[in-house]
Order: sequence, then C-alpha cells, then structure tokens
Amino acid sequence: MYEDKKELDNKVLGVVNTYIRRVESLVGDRIVAKIYGNGSVSLDHVYTVTLVIPDAIASPRYPDMFMDQIVASFTFKTFPGNASIQIVSNAFIQYKYRNRGIGTLMNQCRIDIGKALELSALMCTVASYNVFQLRIMEKNGWTRSYTLKKKGQNSEVHIYIYDLTGD
Ligand SMILES: CC(C)(COP(=O)(O)OP(=O)(O)OC[C@H]1O[C@@H](n2cnc3c(N)ncnc32)[C@H](O)[C@@H]1OP(=O)(O)O)[C@@H](O)C(=O)NCCC(=O)NCCS
Repeated sequence: MYEDKKELDNKVLGVVNTYIRRVESLVGDRIVAKIYGNGSVSLDHVYTVTLVIPDAIASPRYPDMFMDQIVASFTFKTFPGNASIQIVSNAFIQYKYRNRGIGTLMNQCRIDIGKALELSALMCTVASYNVFQLRIMEKNGWTRSYTLKKKGQNSEVHIYIYDLTGD
C-alpha cells in the first residue's frame, strides 16, 4: 500500500520511464511522462499516465492543440472495495502514431506497473468491434472472462482480466 502520493507516483514513473526510449524511437521525438491523479492510495485512487511531447507543451498560444501533444495515455482506478485489483481504462494512442507498436508497449507498461505495485489483477473492458485493442489483449496474456451484450444496442463488450498472482 502506498499511503503517500509521491511514493506511488515515483513507483509508477519509475516503470513508465523504462519505456520512454522505446516510445521515442517509434515516434521520432523527445517524450516525457506525466502522472495526474488523486494519488493518495488507501482504498481509492485514480491516476492517469500520459506520455507527451514536451516541446509542444511550450505553446500556450494553442491550448486547443493539447490533444496533439499526447502520444499515449491510460488510466488506473482501484476496484471499489478491493485494492489488489485495478481497473485500467482510457488507453489512447494519438492517431498519427497508431499501428507502430506503441499500444502494445503501453499494454506491457500497464502490466509492469501492476507488478511493481504488487497488485493481484488488472481488469478492463474492450468493445467487440475494437479489433486493434482486442489484438493486443489476445496476444499479451489477458483472459477474456465474460462478454456482455450492451443493453438496447447491437454490440458487445468483453471483460478481460490479467492475473498477476503468478508474477
Ligand atoms: C487501440 C489502440 C490503443 C492501439 O494502439 P496502437 O499503437 O495502434 O497499437 P499497436 O500498433 O501496438 O497494435 C495494433 C494491432 O492491431 C493490428 N491491426 C491493425 N489493423 C487491424 C485490423 N484491421 N484488424 C485487426 N487487427 C489490426 C496491428 O497489426 C497490431 O497487431 P500486431 O502487433 O499483431 O501487428 C489505438 O488504436 C487507440 O488509441 N484507439 C482509440 C482508443 C481505444 O480504442 N482504446 C482502447 C479502449 S479499450
């Protein structure tokens, strides 16, 4: 358990920083990692990890360009009532950087964060039409645990678990 926000941030940043070089080589630009979140752990924390191109941030005249600065981001949330499980969501790779392996690297990064925080499992949902994310899940050790039909819609959502107890 990380009672202190700084301790948690440093642990997560330590893992994310081991990926920076590889992402930089895929993007061809310098990147820094940032963490936003409530951080203090106990039973309820949420944090978003974002990899950004720092030079773009230095353009306050173009605040609406913010999305353009983001190379990759994802969010972790503690499962309510069970701090050994975290829900990962909002995985995002900037359009122009897709399909060059960054999504796969960030998935591995999320798993490494889970290991570093000594979690038991990660959990997430993926829409059945999201062929890109499904490919990443199926190739990288996630187990499809359940499939829901979206009420009133003609689509399905898969629930995936990554079991960290053996790691
Ligand atoms: C999903 C997402 C994160 C993937 O990021 P990415 O950097 O493009 O991912 P990668 O390049 O690592 O991998 C994409 C995989 O999809 C595969 N792919 C590409 N086109 C495909 C297609 N038409 N059908 C099936 N698979 C396809 C690629 O070949 C690659 O698999 P491979 O490693 O076996 O070759 C990105 O598309 C995204 O941000 N989407 C919008 C947000 C989103 O859907 N987030 C996930 C919510 S659960």
